[in-house]
Amino acid sequence: MKISIISASLRTNSQSKRISDFLHDNLLNNKSGLEMFSLDLADASLPLWSPEKKNGKGVWGQTWRLISDKLIESDGFIFVVPEYGGMATPAAKNFFLLCGDGELSHKPGLIVSVSSGNGGAYPITELRSSSYKNTHIMWIPENIIIRNVEEFNPGNHGDNIPEWLDDRIDYVLKILLAYVSNMKPLRELINRKDFGNGM
Ligand SMILES: Cc1cc2nc3c(=O)[nH]c(=O)nc-3n(C[C@H](O)[C@H](O)[C@H](O)COP(=O)(O)O)c2cc1C
Repeated sequence: MKISIISASLRTNSQSKRISDFLHDNLLNNKSGLEMFSLDLADASLPLWSPEKKNGKGVWGQTWRLISDKLIESDGFIFVVPEYGGMATPAAKNFFLLCGDGELSHKPGLIVSVSSGNGGAYPITELRSSSYKNTHIMWIPENIIIRNVEEFNPGNHGDNIPEWLDDRIDYVLKILLAYVSNMKPLRELINRKDFGNGM
């Protein structure tokens, strides 16, 4: 089973990347035989989608091809998305446009949103309403919001991190993995040739 974790901050060394690394290690420590792929969109600096993508030149050649192949091999996804201006980041939205080859198609995805304050709900509602049509990502009904993210430090959380959050994260990751293994047979039914885009 392969899980990809995508950090969708616009900043390098971001809180989202820190949380992505924590989730990566948590999964590897708790589930044997798991393969992981991590993608930091701030580091990757992928340009906005453009029509050039079709001809596979420049960044759309090896750089994107390698990423796309890793995503195609993946069985499930975790998106760590910070709230910027009450929205999901442009890097997150662009990523869904870039995934036009069925990379995410009918595979379970978990949204983890991050806020330095009390925000974090908006990226979840935004992604749940607008990212799935053509990517066909299957958002699981659980999500995680990490508020006051700078204080998130497992084993030594700050005062503003609720005690129950660690248990909640473990529970949601377990549920994600269950969706990932149980949804695999669904992919045999997928017809991207006739029904590549959603309605
Ligand atoms: C451009 C920008 C806009 C932001 N807007 C919000 C916001 O609307 N709501 C919120 O809770 N936090 C907002 N923040 C604060 C972020 O939650 C905080 O910086 C968080 O650490 C961002 O995650 P990152 O480090 O992964 O980029 C904003 C930060 C930036 C840089």
